[in-house]
Amino acid sequence: MHFDAIGRVPGDPILGLMEAYAQDPNPRKFDLGVGVYKDAQGLTSIPQAVKLAEARLVDRQATKTYIGGHGEPAFGKVINELVLGADSALIAEQRAGVTQTPGGTGALRLSADFIAQCLPGRGVWLSNPTWPIHETIFATAGVKVSHYPYVGSDNRLDVEAMLAALKEAPKGDVVLLHACCHNPTGVDLSPADWNNVLEVVKAKGHVPFLDMAYQGFGDGIDEDAAAVRLFAESGLTFFVSSSFSKSFSLYGERVGALSIVSESKEESARVLSQVKRVIRTNYSNPPTHGASIVAAVLNSPQLRAQWEEELAEMRLRIRGMRTQMVDLLAKNAPQRDFSFVGRQRGMFSYSGLTVEQVTRLRNEFGIYALDTGRICVAALNQSNIDVVTKAIVQVI
Ligand code: LMR
Repeated sequence: MHFDAIGRVPGDPILGLMEAYAQDPNPRKFDLGVGVYKDAQGLTSIPQAVKLAEARLVDRQATKTYIGGHGEPAFGKVINELVLGADSALIAEQRAGVTQTPGGTGALRLSADFIAQCLPGRGVWLSNPTWPIHETIFATAGVKVSHYPYVGSDNRLDVEAMLAALKEAPKGDVVLLHACCHNPTGVDLSPADWNNVLEVVKAKGHVPFLDMAYQGFGDGIDEDAAAVRLFAESGLTFFVSSSFSKSFSLYGERVGALSIVSESKEESARVLSQVKRVIRTNYSNPPTHGASIVAAVLNSPQLRAQWEEELAEMRLRIRGMRTQMVDLLAKNAPQRDFSFVGRQRGMFSYSGLTVEQVTRLRNEFGIYALDTGRICVAALNQSNIDVVTKAIVQVI
Protein backbone atom coordinates (compact mmCIF):
# COMPACT_ATOMS: atom_id res chain seq x y z
CA MET A 1 0.00 0.00 0.00
CA HIS A 2 2.92 2.39 0.61
CA PHE A 3 4.10 2.04 -2.94
CA ASP A 4 0.71 2.38 -4.64
CA ALA A 5 1.42 5.77 -6.10
CA ILE A 6 4.85 4.91 -7.44
CA GLY A 7 4.79 4.94 -11.21
CA ARG A 8 6.96 2.90 -13.52
CA VAL A 9 9.74 4.72 -15.36
CA PRO A 10 10.77 3.74 -18.88
CA GLY A 11 13.82 1.48 -19.14
CA ASP A 12 17.28 3.00 -19.53
CA PRO A 13 17.85 3.97 -23.18
CA ILE A 14 21.07 1.93 -23.31
CA LEU A 15 21.08 -0.76 -20.61
CA GLY A 16 17.30 -1.24 -21.01
CA LEU A 17 17.88 -2.03 -24.67
CA MET A 18 20.61 -4.49 -23.70
CA GLU A 19 18.06 -6.26 -21.44
CA ALA A 20 15.45 -6.30 -24.22
CA TYR A 21 18.05 -7.82 -26.55
CA ALA A 22 18.92 -10.53 -24.02
CA GLN A 23 15.22 -11.46 -23.73
CA ASP A 24 14.59 -11.51 -27.48
CA PRO A 25 14.15 -15.18 -28.54
CA ASN A 26 15.11 -14.35 -32.17
CA PRO A 27 18.18 -16.54 -32.93
CA ARG A 28 19.34 -14.09 -35.65
CA LYS A 29 19.62 -10.94 -33.55
CA PHE A 30 22.44 -8.39 -33.47
CA ASP A 31 23.24 -6.04 -30.59
CA LEU A 32 24.58 -2.73 -31.91
CA GLY A 33 23.14 -0.80 -28.96
CA VAL A 34 25.34 -0.73 -25.89
CA GLY A 35 28.92 0.54 -26.13
CA VAL A 36 30.70 -2.76 -25.62
CA TYR A 37 33.57 -3.88 -27.84
CA LYS A 38 33.19 -7.25 -29.54
CA ASP A 39 36.06 -8.96 -31.36
CA ALA A 40 36.03 -10.51 -34.84
CA GLN A 41 34.20 -13.55 -33.41
CA GLY A 42 31.57 -11.35 -31.78
CA LEU A 43 32.90 -11.94 -28.27
CA THR A 44 33.71 -9.46 -25.51
CA SER A 45 36.77 -11.41 -24.46
CA ILE A 46 39.22 -10.56 -21.69
CA PRO A 47 42.54 -9.08 -22.92
CA GLN A 48 45.57 -11.32 -22.29
CA ALA A 49 47.30 -8.53 -20.36
CA VAL A 50 44.31 -8.42 -18.00
CA LYS A 51 44.24 -12.21 -17.62
CA LEU A 52 47.95 -12.31 -16.75
CA ALA A 53 47.72 -9.43 -14.28
CA GLU A 54 44.68 -11.02 -12.67
CA ALA A 55 46.45 -14.37 -12.24
CA ARG A 56 49.40 -12.64 -10.56
CA LEU A 57 47.07 -10.71 -8.27
CA VAL A 58 45.10 -13.72 -7.15
CA ASP A 59 48.36 -15.46 -6.38
CA ARG A 60 49.86 -12.61 -4.39
CA GLN A 61 46.82 -11.00 -2.78
CA ALA A 62 47.07 -11.26 1.01
CA THR A 63 44.00 -9.29 2.12
CA LYS A 64 40.69 -7.95 0.98
CA THR A 65 40.43 -5.26 3.62
CA TYR A 66 39.01 -1.79 2.91
CA ILE A 67 41.24 0.30 0.67
CA GLY A 68 39.96 3.73 1.73
CA GLY A 69 37.67 6.17 -0.04
CA HIS A 70 40.14 7.22 -2.73
CA GLY A 71 41.10 3.64 -3.56
CA GLU A 72 44.46 2.12 -4.37
CA PRO A 73 47.22 4.79 -4.29
CA ALA A 74 49.10 2.78 -6.95
CA PHE A 75 46.05 3.04 -9.21
CA GLY A 76 45.59 6.79 -8.74
CA LYS A 77 49.24 7.44 -9.53
CA VAL A 78 49.27 5.53 -12.83
CA ILE A 79 45.90 6.90 -13.87
CA ASN A 80 47.03 10.48 -13.46
CA GLU A 81 50.09 9.63 -15.56
CA LEU A 82 47.96 7.99 -18.24
CA VAL A 83 45.50 10.84 -18.36
CA LEU A 84 47.65 13.94 -17.77
CA GLY A 85 50.95 12.57 -19.12
CA ALA A 86 53.75 11.05 -17.02
CA ASP A 87 55.76 14.27 -17.10
CA SER A 88 52.87 16.57 -16.19
CA ALA A 89 53.85 19.44 -13.91
CA LEU A 90 50.45 19.08 -12.22
CA ILE A 91 51.51 15.70 -10.86
CA ALA A 92 54.89 16.99 -9.66
CA GLU A 93 53.19 19.96 -7.97
CA GLN A 94 50.58 17.63 -6.40
CA ARG A 95 47.73 19.67 -7.84
CA ALA A 96 46.03 16.74 -9.52
CA GLY A 97 43.91 14.99 -6.91
CA VAL A 98 42.63 11.62 -8.06
CA THR A 99 40.12 9.17 -6.71
CA GLN A 100 39.22 5.67 -7.87
CA THR A 101 35.56 5.31 -8.79
CA PRO A 102 33.10 2.53 -9.65
CA GLY A 103 33.38 3.04 -13.43
CA GLY A 104 33.19 6.23 -15.44
CA THR A 105 29.52 6.56 -14.47
CA GLY A 106 30.56 6.51 -10.81
CA ALA A 107 33.10 9.27 -11.49
CA LEU A 108 30.41 11.40 -13.13
CA ARG A 109 27.93 10.93 -10.30
CA LEU A 110 30.63 11.64 -7.71
CA SER A 111 31.56 14.87 -9.47
CA ALA A 112 27.89 15.83 -9.82
CA ASP A 113 27.36 15.39 -6.07
CA PHE A 114 30.57 17.30 -5.38
CA ILE A 115 29.46 20.18 -7.64
CA ALA A 116 26.00 20.29 -6.04
CA GLN A 117 27.46 20.34 -2.53
CA CYS A 118 30.67 22.36 -2.91
CA LEU A 119 29.94 24.64 -5.88
CA PRO A 120 26.24 25.37 -5.26
CA GLY A 121 24.43 27.28 -7.98
CA ARG A 122 26.80 26.19 -10.76
CA GLY A 123 25.05 24.64 -13.73
CA VAL A 124 26.55 22.13 -16.14
CA TRP A 125 26.61 22.49 -19.94
CA LEU A 126 26.36 19.35 -22.02
CA SER A 127 26.76 18.88 -25.75
CA ASN A 128 23.63 18.38 -27.82
CA PRO A 129 23.53 15.46 -28.33
CA THR A 130 25.43 13.73 -25.54
CA TRP A 131 25.48 10.39 -23.72
CA PRO A 132 21.87 10.35 -22.47
CA ILE A 133 22.87 9.41 -18.91
CA HIS A 134 24.93 12.61 -18.48
CA GLU A 135 21.75 14.62 -18.21
CA THR A 136 20.11 12.23 -15.73
CA ILE A 137 23.19 12.03 -13.53
CA PHE A 138 23.62 15.79 -13.12
CA ALA A 139 19.89 16.49 -12.82
CA THR A 140 19.47 13.75 -10.21
CA ALA A 141 22.27 15.29 -8.18
CA GLY A 142 20.47 18.65 -8.32
CA VAL A 143 22.77 20.37 -10.83
CA LYS A 144 21.01 22.53 -13.43
CA VAL A 145 21.59 21.11 -16.91
CA SER A 146 21.83 23.19 -20.10
CA HIS A 147 22.99 22.25 -23.57
CA TYR A 148 25.34 23.75 -26.14
CA PRO A 149 24.90 22.88 -29.83
CA TYR A 150 27.35 20.30 -31.12
CA VAL A 151 26.31 18.04 -34.00
CA GLY A 152 23.12 18.55 -36.02
CA SER A 153 21.00 15.98 -37.84
CA ASP A 154 23.28 16.48 -40.87
CA ASN A 155 26.10 14.94 -38.80
CA ARG A 156 28.13 18.13 -38.98
CA LEU A 157 29.89 19.74 -36.07
CA ASP A 158 28.66 23.29 -35.53
CA VAL A 159 31.57 24.68 -33.58
CA GLU A 160 30.53 28.32 -34.11
CA ALA A 161 27.18 27.68 -32.45
CA MET A 162 28.93 25.76 -29.69
CA LEU A 163 31.32 28.62 -28.94
CA ALA A 164 28.49 31.18 -29.07
CA ALA A 165 26.48 29.20 -26.49
CA LEU A 166 29.50 28.85 -24.20
CA LYS A 167 30.08 32.60 -24.42
CA GLU A 168 26.49 33.13 -23.24
CA ALA A 169 26.66 30.58 -20.39
CA PRO A 170 26.72 32.05 -16.88
CA LYS A 171 30.26 32.73 -15.67
CA GLY A 172 31.67 29.87 -13.62
CA ASP A 173 29.37 27.15 -14.95
CA VAL A 174 30.80 23.71 -15.62
CA VAL A 175 31.34 22.81 -19.30
CA LEU A 176 31.43 19.10 -19.95
CA LEU A 177 33.46 18.15 -23.01
CA HIS A 178 34.09 14.68 -24.45
CA ALA A 179 37.89 14.45 -24.52
CA CYS A 180 37.83 12.02 -27.47
CA CYS A 181 35.51 9.61 -29.31
CA HIS A 182 32.39 11.69 -28.68
CA ASN A 183 29.47 9.59 -27.47
CA PRO A 184 27.07 9.27 -29.34
CA THR A 185 28.28 11.04 -32.49
CA GLY A 186 31.90 9.92 -32.97
CA VAL A 187 32.57 13.53 -34.07
CA ASP A 188 35.52 15.11 -32.26
CA LEU A 189 36.81 18.68 -32.10
CA SER A 190 39.90 19.49 -34.18
CA PRO A 191 43.04 20.83 -32.42
CA ALA A 192 42.07 24.35 -33.61
CA ASP A 193 38.53 23.90 -32.20
CA TRP A 194 39.97 22.81 -28.87
CA ASN A 195 42.08 25.96 -28.71
CA ASN A 196 38.99 28.07 -29.36
CA VAL A 197 36.98 26.25 -26.69
CA LEU A 198 39.80 26.71 -24.21
CA GLU A 199 39.93 30.42 -24.99
CA VAL A 200 36.19 30.88 -24.35
CA VAL A 201 36.21 28.76 -21.20
CA LYS A 202 39.15 30.75 -19.87
CA ALA A 203 37.71 34.14 -20.79
CA LYS A 204 34.32 33.28 -19.25
CA GLY A 205 35.75 31.72 -16.08
CA HIS A 206 33.97 28.41 -16.71
CA VAL A 207 35.07 25.14 -15.13
CA PRO A 208 36.08 22.61 -17.81
CA PHE A 209 35.12 18.99 -17.31
CA LEU A 210 36.73 16.45 -19.64
CA ASP A 211 34.93 13.15 -19.82
CA MET A 212 37.27 10.51 -21.25
CA ALA A 213 35.67 7.08 -21.42
CA TYR A 214 37.34 5.92 -24.65
CA GLN A 215 41.04 6.78 -24.36
CA GLY A 216 42.90 4.72 -26.95
CA PHE A 217 39.91 4.06 -29.22
CA GLY A 218 40.38 7.13 -31.42
CA ASP A 219 43.94 7.71 -32.61
CA GLY A 220 46.08 6.36 -29.76
CA ILE A 221 46.54 6.62 -26.00
CA ASP A 222 48.44 9.92 -25.94
CA GLU A 223 46.76 11.31 -29.06
CA ASP A 224 43.32 10.84 -27.48
CA ALA A 225 44.45 12.66 -24.33
CA ALA A 226 45.61 15.73 -26.28
CA ALA A 227 42.66 17.86 -25.11
CA VAL A 228 43.27 16.92 -21.47
CA ARG A 229 46.95 17.84 -21.87
CA LEU A 230 45.94 21.18 -23.44
CA PHE A 231 43.80 22.04 -20.42
CA ALA A 232 46.57 20.75 -18.11
CA GLU A 233 48.91 23.37 -19.55
CA SER A 234 46.33 26.15 -19.39
CA GLY A 235 46.65 26.90 -15.69
CA LEU A 236 42.91 26.30 -15.18
CA THR A 237 41.31 24.12 -12.56
CA PHE A 238 39.30 21.29 -14.12
CA PHE A 239 37.79 17.83 -13.80
CA VAL A 240 38.65 14.67 -15.74
CA SER A 241 36.52 11.55 -15.48
CA SER A 242 37.96 8.40 -16.98
CA SER A 243 36.77 4.88 -17.53
CA PHE A 244 38.67 1.62 -17.96
CA SER A 245 35.58 -0.40 -18.86
CA LYS A 246 36.34 -0.23 -22.57
CA SER A 247 40.12 0.18 -22.78
CA PHE A 248 40.76 -2.81 -20.47
CA SER A 249 37.49 -4.62 -21.23
CA LEU A 250 36.73 -4.52 -17.51
CA TYR A 251 33.08 -3.51 -17.91
CA GLY A 252 31.61 -5.50 -15.01
CA GLU A 253 34.49 -4.79 -12.62
CA ARG A 254 33.55 -1.09 -12.53
CA VAL A 255 36.87 0.72 -12.81
CA GLY A 256 37.03 4.46 -13.32
CA ALA A 257 38.65 7.56 -11.89
CA LEU A 258 37.97 11.19 -11.18
CA SER A 259 40.90 13.60 -11.34
CA ILE A 260 40.41 17.13 -10.09
CA VAL A 261 43.09 19.68 -10.87
CA SER A 262 43.30 22.44 -8.26
CA GLU A 263 45.34 25.62 -8.01
CA SER A 264 47.71 24.35 -5.34
CA LYS A 265 48.65 21.27 -3.35
CA GLU A 266 46.84 22.70 -0.34
CA GLU A 267 43.65 23.40 -2.32
CA SER A 268 43.80 19.90 -3.79
CA ALA A 269 43.90 18.40 -0.28
CA ARG A 270 40.78 20.39 0.69
CA VAL A 271 38.95 19.35 -2.47
CA LEU A 272 39.85 15.69 -2.00
CA SER A 273 38.64 15.78 1.61
CA GLN A 274 35.20 16.88 0.37
CA VAL A 275 35.22 14.25 -2.35
CA LYS A 276 36.03 11.60 0.24
CA ARG A 277 33.04 12.68 2.32
CA VAL A 278 30.75 12.29 -0.70
CA ILE A 279 32.21 8.83 -1.31
CA ARG A 280 31.71 7.79 2.32
CA THR A 281 28.03 8.66 2.19
CA ASN A 282 27.54 6.88 -1.11
CA TYR A 283 29.56 3.68 -1.58
CA SER A 284 32.12 4.13 1.24
CA ASN A 285 35.08 2.57 -0.58
CA PRO A 286 35.48 1.73 -4.27
CA PRO A 287 35.74 -1.94 -5.30
CA THR A 288 39.31 -3.26 -5.26
CA HIS A 289 39.75 -5.92 -7.88
CA GLY A 290 39.46 -4.15 -11.26
CA ALA A 291 41.60 -1.19 -10.22
CA SER A 292 44.31 -3.55 -8.94
CA ILE A 293 44.36 -5.17 -12.38
CA VAL A 294 44.70 -1.83 -14.18
CA ALA A 295 47.49 -0.73 -11.83
CA ALA A 296 49.29 -4.07 -12.26
CA VAL A 297 49.12 -3.83 -16.07
CA LEU A 298 50.27 -0.22 -16.22
CA ASN A 299 53.07 -0.77 -13.72
CA SER A 300 54.58 -3.73 -15.56
CA PRO A 301 56.48 -2.73 -18.74
CA GLN A 302 55.79 -6.13 -20.28
CA LEU A 303 52.05 -6.20 -19.48
CA ARG A 304 51.68 -2.59 -20.50
CA ALA A 305 53.25 -3.25 -23.90
CA GLN A 306 50.91 -6.19 -24.36
CA TRP A 307 47.86 -4.10 -23.36
CA GLU A 308 48.84 -1.32 -25.75
CA GLU A 309 49.04 -3.88 -28.54
CA GLU A 310 45.65 -5.34 -27.67
CA LEU A 311 44.09 -1.88 -27.48
CA ALA A 312 45.59 -0.97 -30.87
CA GLU A 313 44.09 -4.15 -32.29
CA MET A 314 40.62 -3.10 -31.06
CA ARG A 315 41.09 0.42 -32.44
CA LEU A 316 42.20 -0.82 -35.86
CA ARG A 317 39.47 -3.44 -36.09
CA ILE A 318 36.82 -0.76 -35.46
CA ARG A 319 38.40 1.44 -38.14
CA GLY A 320 38.31 -1.46 -40.58
CA MET A 321 34.60 -1.98 -39.85
CA ARG A 322 33.93 1.71 -40.49
CA THR A 323 35.62 1.55 -43.88
CA GLN A 324 33.77 -1.61 -44.79
CA MET A 325 30.43 -0.17 -43.68
CA VAL A 326 31.00 2.96 -45.78
CA ASP A 327 31.98 0.85 -48.83
CA LEU A 328 28.99 -1.49 -48.53
CA LEU A 329 26.55 1.38 -48.07
CA ALA A 330 28.07 3.28 -51.00
CA LYS A 331 27.61 0.17 -53.14
CA ASN A 332 24.06 -0.65 -52.03
CA ALA A 333 22.66 2.83 -51.38
CA PRO A 334 24.63 5.15 -53.69
CA GLN A 335 21.90 7.80 -53.42
CA ARG A 336 22.88 8.54 -49.80
CA ASP A 337 26.27 9.67 -48.54
CA PHE A 338 27.49 7.68 -45.53
CA SER A 339 31.15 8.68 -45.90
CA PHE A 340 30.95 10.57 -42.57
CA VAL A 341 30.96 7.17 -40.79
CA GLY A 342 34.58 6.71 -41.88
CA ARG A 343 35.62 10.04 -40.37
CA GLN A 344 34.01 9.41 -36.99
CA ARG A 345 36.13 8.14 -34.09
CA GLY A 346 35.64 5.60 -31.32
CA MET A 347 33.00 2.95 -30.84
CA PHE A 348 29.99 4.77 -32.19
CA SER A 349 28.46 6.10 -35.33
CA TYR A 350 25.64 8.57 -35.25
CA SER A 351 24.14 7.04 -38.36
CA GLY A 352 21.45 9.60 -39.12
CA LEU A 353 18.77 6.87 -38.92
CA THR A 354 15.44 8.06 -37.52
CA VAL A 355 13.61 6.46 -34.63
CA GLU A 356 11.15 4.89 -37.11
CA GLN A 357 14.02 3.39 -39.09
CA VAL A 358 15.70 2.10 -35.92
CA THR A 359 12.39 0.53 -34.83
CA ARG A 360 12.11 -1.23 -38.20
CA LEU A 361 15.67 -2.51 -37.88
CA ARG A 362 14.75 -4.04 -34.52
CA ASN A 363 11.32 -5.42 -35.43
CA GLU A 364 12.02 -6.65 -38.93
CA PHE A 365 15.72 -7.55 -38.80
CA GLY A 366 16.52 -8.19 -35.10
CA ILE A 367 19.11 -5.38 -35.19
CA TYR A 368 19.29 -3.38 -31.97
CA ALA A 369 20.50 0.24 -32.17
CA LEU A 370 19.68 3.26 -30.00
CA ASP A 371 16.56 5.26 -30.83
CA THR A 372 18.79 8.25 -31.57
CA GLY A 373 20.32 6.31 -34.48
CA ARG A 374 23.56 5.56 -32.60
CA ILE A 375 25.17 2.34 -33.80
CA CYS A 376 28.00 0.56 -32.01
CA VAL A 377 30.48 0.00 -34.84
CA ALA A 378 32.64 -1.95 -32.37
CA ALA A 379 30.04 -4.75 -32.49
CA LEU A 380 30.27 -5.22 -36.27
CA ASN A 381 32.22 -8.14 -37.73
CA GLN A 382 32.49 -10.18 -40.94
CA SER A 383 29.50 -12.33 -39.99
CA ASN A 384 27.06 -9.47 -39.41
CA ILE A 385 28.19 -6.48 -41.51
CA ASP A 386 26.46 -7.65 -44.70
CA VAL A 387 23.17 -8.32 -42.92
CA VAL A 388 23.36 -5.00 -41.05
CA THR A 389 24.19 -2.84 -44.06
CA LYS A 390 21.56 -4.58 -46.21
CA ALA A 391 18.96 -3.98 -43.49
CA ILE A 392 19.97 -0.31 -43.28
CA VAL A 393 19.49 -0.02 -47.05
CA GLN A 394 16.01 -1.56 -46.66
CA VAL A 395 14.86 0.92 -44.01
CA ILE A 396 16.24 4.21 -45.37
C1 LMR B 1 27.29 3.34 -23.78
O1 LMR B 1 27.17 4.54 -24.02
O2 LMR B 1 26.67 2.47 -24.39
C2 LMR B 1 28.24 2.90 -22.70
O3 LMR B 1 28.89 3.99 -22.17
C3 LMR B 1 27.61 2.03 -21.68
C4 LMR B 1 26.74 2.81 -20.74
O4 LMR B 1 26.99 2.74 -19.54
O5 LMR B 1 25.81 3.46 -21.17
